[in-house]
Amino acid sequence: MKIRLVTTTLIVCTLALAACRPSAEENPASDSSESPTMATHDVHSFAEPDQVRVEHLELDLTVDFESQTLHGMASLTLDHEGAEQLVLDTRDLDIQGVTLGDSEEATDFELGAEVAHLGQPLTIAIRPDTEVVHVRYATRSADAVQWLTPAQTAGGERPFLFTQSQAILARTWVPCQDTPAVRMTYSATIRVPMGLMALMSAENPTEVDPSGVYTFEMPQRIPSYLLALAVGDLEYRAFDERSGVYAEPSVVEAAAWEFADTPAMMTANEQLYGPYRWGKYDLLVLPPSFPFGGMENPRLTFATPTIIAGDRSLVALIAHELAHSWSGNLVTNATWNDFWLNEGFTVYLERRVMEEVYGEAYATLLAELGRQDLHATVDRIGADSADTHLYLDLDGRNPDDGMTDIAYEKGYFFLRSLEEAVGRERWDPFLREYFETHAFESTDTASFVQYLTENLLDTLPESVEVGDVEAWIYGSGLPENFPQIHSESLETVEAQLAAWQEGQAASELATDSWNSHEWLHFLRHLPPGLTSEQMADLDAAFGFTQSGNSEILAEWLTQAIGADYEPAYPAVEEFLTEIGRRKFLMPLYRALVETEEGKRRAEEIYAKARPGYHPVSSGSVDALLGWSAE
Ligand code: BES
Ligand code: ZN
Repeated sequence: MKIRLVTTTLIVCTLALAACRPSAEENPASDSSESPTMATHDVHSFAEPDQVRVEHLELDLTVDFESQTLHGMASLTLDHEGAEQLVLDTRDLDIQGVTLGDSEEATDFELGAEVAHLGQPLTIAIRPDTEVVHVRYATRSADAVQWLTPAQTAGGERPFLFTQSQAILARTWVPCQDTPAVRMTYSATIRVPMGLMALMSAENPTEVDPSGVYTFEMPQRIPSYLLALAVGDLEYRAFDERSGVYAEPSVVEAAAWEFADTPAMMTANEQLYGPYRWGKYDLLVLPPSFPFGGMENPRLTFATPTIIAGDRSLVALIAHELAHSWSGNLVTNATWNDFWLNEGFTVYLERRVMEEVYGEAYATLLAELGRQDLHATVDRIGADSADTHLYLDLDGRNPDDGMTDIAYEKGYFFLRSLEEAVGRERWDPFLREYFETHAFESTDTASFVQYLTENLLDTLPESVEVGDVEAWIYGSGLPENFPQIHSESLETVEAQLAAWQEGQAASELATDSWNSHEWLHFLRHLPPGLTSEQMADLDAAFGFTQSGNSEILAEWLTQAIGADYEPAYPAVEEFLTEIGRRKFLMPLYRALVETEEGKRRAEEIYAKARPGYHPVSSGSVDALLGWSAE
């Protein structure tokens, strides 16, 4: 019965796709992965979910800091109708044995050939009546996992571990059907050294368990990329009964102050898009090597400490990760080609929530900065590039390649254009209903277009042409009906910048009331080719090199490298060795490698910094500097 349902969905999607996608002639960049029959096939997974589905995962893992391995057992509960094999995704796992059912009877298994980015399929012989498969395994050099020495933590005394599974790294620490098209519940027993706390994307403890053995339950069905684990010297501070923050003891007070608006964000989100469906919503502040700004692990957002600015100015990131509790975690992109369904929707929700909590002017400022980022991205990758399509073609590539401002900001502006066309009074209930109807499901771009057409556009024939929708999703560059925005506060910044360029001293500019986004706007619009003297004038007036705001510091240091402003180099080195957030690292290293001397500096700094980076970040810097992967 289940299998038949899946087939029906496939046919519906296929028809919808055929109806609304431009033909191959109009869209020369498209290849096989855009062919209609592949609609729900995930090119980034070996799994065959239309044959067998993993319904539940039970993990029993020991966290061994000495050998830097996770080892133990993954037991998978299956749903199938007489299948003879189960294919799981794995990468860099030592598979020690596979057994079936309660009797744990050994069965045949085979690890297939390694495929770039994807790892190896693990094919397991099962029987028509097999309900549970047990895989005994250990990790090798899992790219999802970063093992931190005590020196790499704030406290300096205990080791730390965290995982990052999105997009396709869950398979490096758990053998699973590593595709966002499959959802499962999970439970886990995690054994850690005494005194450390273990946390997962699940129901979590708030105190250290002296036994070092923690059990977890995730009763809602989630895709594998939301599996997450962190272990360290951690404390909890509650904001209210359903949200709070975990961090190392020396960081937790600052974190609790910085993110105190989280409950207000939750309320705003719920008023707009329906109830929060995951029980608790907590934050975990990680050590600075965390390669992303944030990761929406359900019930427990992982966040970089670089958003603790002391003034709550960077908390839009929390609004973003929280919003994923609706877009992404509740309604999930079925493949990484549909990534904009996760991120474009989330940026849209994030900005609506920011507007509710902090006012329209602030939300407009953030949207305008996003628009600028988007234009810069389109210029960089080329307005004709297929990578500017919302619906991507990542076949044969690392899904990380899809992590550009296209999914985030073009996605946001597309949804905003729909909002403007039909009005919030229609758009908001439509979105709310969309989340309700698709709750705990994975969905693809064609299904969204169909749902949009049937439930909104067809009822308002005058509002939006289907052709416009297609241009946004399957077309390159930015469409003509791109929303206009106007941020007054940014215009004020531009006026001050013009005054400086016309000779007014930096110290005389009217900057007193600026927030960090206004400062960022100022820095991003500094004219090219500034001399060291001009940089020194700015630095003396505003103390950028000493800024405690990571966004401002990263932007300033990138410019400083471009201007060869010598006094900033010690800060560049310090930043690159202490912080592992990829979004900051890449522009800095890119700026360095522009010159021969800079390249030498980059190599020297990277040699020191690399051991402290998460594999996600070192992978990107390796590629930039031409270091071969280990
Ligand atoms: N889910 C993403 C992070 C991600 C995407 C990890 C793709 C791996 C593959 C997360 O929600 C995110 O978008 N983080 C952003 C911050 C956000 C405010 C735009 C980041 O980390 O920069
Ligand atoms: Zn996101």
